[in-house]
Amino acid sequence: MHPAIFRTSAETAAFCSQCRRDGKTIGLVPTMGALHEGHLSLVRRAREENDVVVVSIFVNPTQFGPNEDLDKYPRTFENDVALCGSLGTDAIFAPAPADVYPDGYATYIVQERLTAVLCGADRPTHFRGVLTVCCKLFNIIAPTVAYFGQKDYQQTVVIRRMVADLCLPLRIEVCPTVREPDGLAKSSRNRYLSDSERADARCLSRALELARTMIAQGETDAWAVINALKNLIASTKSAKIGYVAVAHPDTLEPVERIEGTVLVALAVTIGGTRLIDNALIEAPTA
Ligand code: PAJ
Repeated sequence: MHPAIFRTSAETAAFCSQCRRDGKTIGLVPTMGALHEGHLSLVRRAREENDVVVVSIFVNPTQFGPNEDLDKYPRTFENDVALCGSLGTDAIFAPAPADVYPDGYATYIVQERLTAVLCGADRPTHFRGVLTVCCKLFNIIAPTVAYFGQKDYQQTVVIRRMVADLCLPLRIEVCPTVREPDGLAKSSRNRYLSDSERADARCLSRALELARTMIAQGETDAWAVINALKNLIASTKSAKIGYVAVAHPDTLEPVERIEGTVLVALAVTIGGTRLIDNALIEAPTA
């Protein structure tokens, strides 16, 4: 099936409001394209749970910092359309930057606290861009439900917070991280890695495995876990640690004593490529 391809917000909004008048539910999967199995798992889930599936493909300039990879971010539109079509996507919204941010554009969504930590500390304007574009997508498409991946854990927390704080009338669903056979989380940025960097990138998922093992064996001191993970990652020559954190899964505040479920989150630059990964880990009950 060929999805309809819409290039403007106006056409997309018209299509979606007709769907809603027809009583159909709409599942939205927001993406920046260069689709891989991680994205496709969200599209499949949306397909199972909704009458209409809309995938947005937009490399959102406002979520990239000045020295980040906006220009070299992979763009594989024809392939993305074919993949979306093969999964029964009804419509693709792929606007030009000028449609989303026309001349004179001046309004952004800034969230406090949750965006100041983890990736937000390294990328101070990133979540402002993510929240702004997602809020616009939610307004244009007015989906019943929008699907996000756990791979970008902090993104799911800040989006849920925005939806609750601004009373946006949709549900947010979070889907598990899809991984390569050796554990590396799928990411559009993995294609930047050379063969040796690709091998080194395994240190992220290995670090998360180490955290699981330590916590399963009863380690409750977050710093002991953080230090062990930092040592493991530091033993990979090309790896530069952005952060290694053990945090509360809702507030993202650092945790000192591990109990209940904790978020273990990592950002590591391999060569020139910044990769992130995370796991929600439940401590054994004493
Ligand atoms: P992008 O990086 O293209 O990711 C789109 C969606 O796919 C996100 O919800 C992301 O968490 C999910 N995803 C990526 N890799 C995944 C994996 N390995 N397993 C499961 N899900 C995965 O995230 C963005 O785009 C942008 O910030 C966006 C929300 C589209 C706003 O511009």
